[in-house]
Amino acid sequence: MIVVLDGPAGSGKSSTARRVAAALGFIHLDTGATYRAVTLAAIRAGTQLDDGEALGALCQDLEIELAEGQVSLNGRDVSAEIRSPEVSRAVSLVARHPQVRAQMVALQRRVAARGDIVGEGRDLASVVFPEADLKIYLNASPLERARRRACERGLDSPAGIEALAREIEERDRIDSTRAASPLLQTEDAELLDTTSLTLEQVVAQVVAKVRSLRA
Ligand code: DC
Repeated sequence: MIVVLDGPAGSGKSSTARRVAAALGFIHLDTGATYRAVTLAAIRAGTQLDDGEALGALCQDLEIELAEGQVSLNGRDVSAEIRSPEVSRAVSLVARHPQVRAQMVALQRRVAARGDIVGEGRDLASVVFPEADLKIYLNASPLERARRRACERGLDSPAGIEALAREIEERDRIDSTRAASPLLQTEDAELLDTTSLTLEQVVAQVVAKVRSLRA
């Protein structure tokens, strides 16, 4: 079974997907982590982030593994490094390029072939898994999304929240206006607004939807 959660940064996708996967015994497929791993490799290699051809060639030499909540790059665990502010600021620029996306989509589909999955990303319902059994589009107000990210990073002062709100806004703008597989809610996806819901409430709603499909 394929369950997909798409939505902007801070909408609750990662926490929800992780917990729903644990509750159902499904594989958690964090597709953002694949773009983050390429971005980390590009920064290390000094590849120009506006050069799609060079980034595509770089991807061909990378071995990215997603397993048990860990992300490895050429055999080394990079789960923490891919969440750094430097990677977070650059990742939307890397994910814009079709040469990168084609290879990441192939990798994501290989992971999904291993079993039942809960995938999270931006283009899972529209491009990666159009045949998914359940498609959910998670969203929350921009302020709430910034507040959540600030909390995660221990920056929950008004100035910290404001800085993150600007960063998230810029990322949303790039992700939803790019030509290749932009962030969007497909017609067959259900909208779940998490602004005033707790994580537990969101998880319970998604798990209930999956169980009703399986019944
Ligand atoms: O979910 P995240 O914040 O880890 O995603 C990081 C970036 O990767 C995000 O800014 C856009 C990109 N991304 C994408 O283009 N397509 C996906 N399916 C997942 C993420």
